[in-house]
Formats: sequence, structure tokens, C-alpha cells
Amino acid sequence: MTGPWTPSTWRERRAEQQPPWPDDVAVERALKQIASFPPLVFAGEARNLTASLGQVAAGRAFLLQAGDCAESFETFSAVNIREKLRVILQMAVILTYSLGVPVVKVGRIAGQFAKPRSSPTERVGDEEIASFRGHIVNDPAPTAAARVPDPDRLVQAYHQAASTLNLLRAFSKGGFADLSRVHAWTQEFVATSREGQRYEQLATEIERALRFMRACGIEIESTFQLHEVDMYTSHEALILGWEEALTRQDSLTDDWYDCSAHLLWIGERTRQRDGAHVEFLRGVGNPLGCKLGPTASADEVLDLCEALNPDRVPGRLTLISRMGADHVEDRLRPLLRAVARAEHPVAWACDPMHGNTFTAANGRKTRHFDDICAEIGGFVRAHRAEGSWPGGVHVELTGEEVTECLGGAEEVLDVNLDERYETVCDPRLNARQSIDLAFRVAELMRA
Ligand code: TRP
Ligand code: MN
Repeated sequence: MTGPWTPSTWRERRAEQQPPWPDDVAVERALKQIASFPPLVFAGEARNLTASLGQVAAGRAFLLQAGDCAESFETFSAVNIREKLRVILQMAVILTYSLGVPVVKVGRIAGQFAKPRSSPTERVGDEEIASFRGHIVNDPAPTAAARVPDPDRLVQAYHQAASTLNLLRAFSKGGFADLSRVHAWTQEFVATSREGQRYEQLATEIERALRFMRACGIEIESTFQLHEVDMYTSHEALILGWEEALTRQDSLTDDWYDCSAHLLWIGERTRQRDGAHVEFLRGVGNPLGCKLGPTASADEVLDLCEALNPDRVPGRLTLISRMGADHVEDRLRPLLRAVARAEHPVAWACDPMHGNTFTAANGRKTRHFDDICAEIGGFVRAHRAEGSWPGGVHVELTGEEVTECLGGAEEVLDVNLDERYETVCDPRLNARQSIDLAFRVAELMRA
């Protein structure tokens, strides 16, 4: 797969997981419209993220990638975005303070709309209907009519991504992310919990450290690094027509960038070496991610490294393992060894969510906080054993007080799952569980 590349050469390959659009003319019309819209991100930002991820690959920084499993058209609001950012900032501050290295902040946000499915259809009563593929494609209501793919959703996804990103930029540079607000990020429902109190203590220490630096004569006010953050966006590049429509040639370098987000990842179900997703992403300049499930072989992984990062650019490729708590240590080690021997400068991240999903007694899809921590523990141990850097975590969370994942310091039990189960796809950590997880990650990294 080394022939000439254009934004449309993927069309000559087999593309898994593409929606069965009923009307191709309407899809082409929608994509043409999107192709005429402004890009969502600028190529220079994507290059900055590659450089930061290069620091992760070199063991000098930590990646926090977090957000919804799937963003919803229905729960789209300023409050929802703000609450998600708030939790991510809290986790980032915990990790920065505890690990003593920069934390690269990447949201699963402003474009995380498309979902791959294990089956194209599902049974509802005695009817067989098309599966829900994310709000960019169809509606989750369990009727045949709701599940018909609607190309207008492609355009709506663009607009929602644009305004989400706009608010994220405002919050991250406009004062919301200022370190002096470290206490103010705590929501009421978190403050009184055990996790919340632990966070409050850390926030107090940070405030004291800032006062100390000021007393030493350091100009706190004029040091912009203390007042803002770089918040990057990412999503699974699944619907290739949509990604192609947002792919633009950078005027500074003439290179192509997928300007729908800073980082794009390839899912476990679409990472075929000769498939359309690898073909498309190999040609764009953005930093890339690739998920690796428990069956990934060393040969497959090396092929992907060669295809996606032939020039061995540090930070260009992040490999995200999602193997399950029971498998990660044994299955990851041979991959770490093979990649190190081939001298591929990848960043390694742990997705402790997708290998640990099960169905609870009441039929809800869920995950247990202890399994999530156990997978991160195995991931860290595998890296310690192989002498590589456990570079980051990739998690599904929300800023709301949902009850979708079990466990945590303020335990969510089976019987609580129905109380606030709101995800349109996989179960997410709530705000308290997320803060708890950040502390656990810090402990596992120091152990
Ligand atoms: N700019 C620094 C960073 O992003 C410090 C910082 C400012 C920060 N606000 C923050 C860190 C909020 C974590 C969370 O690391
Ligand atoms: Mn998911």
C-alpha cells in the first residue's frame, strides 16, 4: 500500500462499517456542502499535537484522552460541554501534579458521532431492525423508521462539532481553565464525596504552591501557561466520506490534513492493513491513533506502524490497547517488544473501557470500576517489564452524575443502574468515578 495517495484513494479499498445510505445522491450532496464549509481545525495545531505526543512517546509526558463514547445530538448544550471539560481539567490537574510531567489533553469530543457495530441489525421484539450507528447516521429509537440513515445528519454533525469546538476554545483560553480556578471546577455533587474531598486537598496544595511561587517573585499574572490550556479534539475516523469532505491541503506545507479534528483514530474493527480506513489515514498529516484488541498480533501491529508512520515520526502514531483486564499484561508485552525492536517511536495508551464491558442482570451494558483500574494496572506492569513508557489513558466519561459504570469510592451498584442511565452507546464513568480514576492512575504509575 504505497502507491500515490489522494483524499479519495480509500474509495478503491474495502471500507468496513459504512452506513447503508438509502440515497447515494443525497449523501453526495451533503458531502459536497461540507466540503465547501471551513475546516474545523488548523494544520499547525495538529502539528503541535504531534510534537506533544512525541514527548509522550519519549516518556516525558502523559496523554489523557477522554469524553463520550458517542456524542449525542439531543444532549448538545453549553452545560454538557462545560461539565465534560471541567472533569477533564480536574483529571489533568491530578495527573500533572502527581506525575510531575505535562499532561496532553485530548477530548473524544467535537466530532465523536459515529459508531461501528458488531452486527448491522438488532432484534426488537419480533422485528429485525438496522443497528444504531451514531447520531451522524441515524436515530437510536428502536423502530425501523428511526434507523434509516439520514444524510442531513452529516451536515448537522459538522455544525455541532463546530460550535462545540468554539466553546472549548473559549473555555480553554478565556479563563475557565485558569489554574487559579482549581477549586471552582468541583461540582457540588462531587465536593462532599470522598473523591471530591481528596481533590479539594490537592487543589489546596496547588494554591499554596502558586502563592509560594508568587512570594518568590515569579510573575504569576503574566505567565500565560498558568491561565490557559491546549485542549485538542479527536474522534474515530469512521465515516470516510465525511472525513474526506473535511480534508484540506495546508497552505503552509502543501500537506493534506483531515481538518475535522486534531487527532483521528482507527477502530479495532476497521484497522485492516489493506482496508479503506488505513488507506485514508496514512495520507493525512494529523497525529493518528489505532486501537488494538486482544487478538492483535505483533506482525499486524508492525504492518500498521509501517503503513501509518513509515518515516518514524515521534508522536505521529499512538497505539491504544483495549485488551481486557485479564489479558492485557500477557498480550501487550510481545507487542511492546516487537515495536521497540523495530524502533517505531509510538506513544502507548490504555483504553481500559472496551475490553471490560458486560451485561448486568437487569440487561444494562456496564463496566466495573475495579476492572477498569485492573486493566490500567496490567498495562503499567507490562510497560515496566518491557522498559517502555505507559504513556496515557483513553477513557469514556461524562461530567454528569450518571449511573452507567459500577463501583467507585461512592459505589454505584447493580440496582442503581436504572437511575440515570443516559448514554447513547457505551457506559461512561461519572464525574466522581473519573476523579477517582485519575488518583488511581497516579498511584499505579508510581507503584
Ligand atoms: N497550561 C498548563 C497545562 O496545560 C497548566 C494548566 C493551566 C493546567 N490550567 C490547567 C493543567 C488545568 C491542568 C489543568 O498543563
Ligand atoms: Mn465506546
